[in-house]
Amino acid sequence: MQISFSPTFATSPTSLLLPFNVLLFSVLVLLLFRQRHHPSKAKRLPPGSMGWPYIGETLKLYTQNPNSFFSTRRKRYGDIFKTHILGCPCVMISSPEVAKVVLVSQAHLFKPTYPPSKEKMIGPEALFFHQGAYHSMLKKLVQASFLPCVIKESVPEIEGIVLKFLPSWENNTVNTLQEMKKYAFDVAIYSAFGDNMEVEVKGIKCLYQRLEKGYNSMPLDFPGTPFHQAMKARKLLTETLRRLILKRRESGKHGGGLLGMLLRAKDHKLNGLSDSQIGDNIIGVIFAAHDTTASVLTWVIKYLHDNAHVMEAVTREQEEIQRIRTKDNNRGLMWEDTRHMPLTSKVIQETLRSASILSFTFREAVQDVEFQGYLIPKGWKVLPLFRSIHHSAEFYPQPEKFDPTRFEVPPRPNTYMPFGNGVHSCPGSELAKLEMRILLHHLTTTYRWKVVGGEEDGIQYGPFPVPKRGLPIRVHQRKKT
Ligand code: HEM
Repeated sequence: MQISFSPTFATSPTSLLLPFNVLLFSVLVLLLFRQRHHPSKAKRLPPGSMGWPYIGETLKLYTQNPNSFFSTRRKRYGDIFKTHILGCPCVMISSPEVAKVVLVSQAHLFKPTYPPSKEKMIGPEALFFHQGAYHSMLKKLVQASFLPCVIKESVPEIEGIVLKFLPSWENNTVNTLQEMKKYAFDVAIYSAFGDNMEVEVKGIKCLYQRLEKGYNSMPLDFPGTPFHQAMKARKLLTETLRRLILKRRESGKHGGGLLGMLLRAKDHKLNGLSDSQIGDNIIGVIFAAHDTTASVLTWVIKYLHDNAHVMEAVTREQEEIQRIRTKDNNRGLMWEDTRHMPLTSKVIQETLRSASILSFTFREAVQDVEFQGYLIPKGWKVLPLFRSIHHSAEFYPQPEKFDPTRFEVPPRPNTYMPFGNGVHSCPGSELAKLEMRILLHHLTTTYRWKVVGGEEDGIQYGPFPVPKRGLPIRVHQRKKT
């Protein structure tokens, strides 16, 4: 078809067609332009449906089981598919190799991305919102605080926390998730400050709990809303943290925990970190450390309850350690004990796989990226689907079965990512596993528990997937054989 732009055209009876022709011409020019800039094959977007205008497939994701949302699309479209959720065009990835490209080998092309409201609550200078030099400087400091050689010193403190709350469970009904949240929170506070008793730390604990109440609320910042209350608590937290930082700077006693590490840090020009950099990263680590660990612990307790033979085998392993402790002057648990729990460690590994509490993570393409013949346009979100990879029968036969023995053989590379992969992977993985081992030692050797209110399976999200109603359990002393 030829498009004419003769001056007579506008005055002819066909002039009504002019806007249509202009539109058609513009579309053709646009298509030709895009064709020149993106070779035809690479220009292809991944397959998939973008759903309804504006809402995309958000309702589908949030009203059905996310597992079936991912698996039906994976079956229909393959390992890379597009969708539209929470107002953003997304590409979802359930191939370990492609996830590795996004998280590791081409990580510089995919930046972490969070809703602005979350950034405001946690603090914009926390490491997970950053890439490049600032991120890697902070990551080294945080990692250094959670190295095995550092956290091994925390074993008596963590055991003390366990021995303080566990007896209160006896002959009682407790909500597992709520109890685990308290435990993981106390450990996170101790790891952050190296102390739970300082007056400012006590204040920080209260304020953090107020902040947390609004964390998953709608970001509506006006008086009366949970978000507004949370932001008020965040302001007070900043002030209390500043007071604590000032006190430690002035006394010259930087103290232990992550705070001590951050106060001592100097860059190559011997500049220290600012108060807000320190404060935002302390809040960030507490945030990253406790709901995650608490949710996984809740699943461990469910899986042990549902798999009596695994519970008995773990108990035998733990009783052997208990026997050695008793013989050795009834001493407490030591780091070395926690390194010799092969079955318990596999139970934790399998729980992390099976529960996959971080079903996926978010990245955003910082430029147009082409791979595997597809184009991921700049600004699109990219979601490596950890859960889909962990529940693929190709990598984990009978994926729905809880089977710790599958970890007698190491998983295939890049198919096991409960703590992520690459530059943003979790610096707290060893601490989380240590907390679980210490709790399981005392729990399995002393108690047994029964799920209250029916055995039916079910999941709730808050925000991580956890057993329904937070797994209420009735706890009693174990009859020793
Ligand atoms: C079982 C418990 C935990 C799980 C399943 C978990 C999982 C993860 C995952 C998957 C990531 C990567 C997120 C991404 O790539 O976007 C991550 C990052 C992170 N985690 Fe954990 N985590 C746990 C416990 C902890 C603990 C105890 C700490 C405290 C030290 C911690 C601190 C962090 C931090 C600071 C990051 C951000 C790292 C960065 O951006 O470079 N996590 N975690």
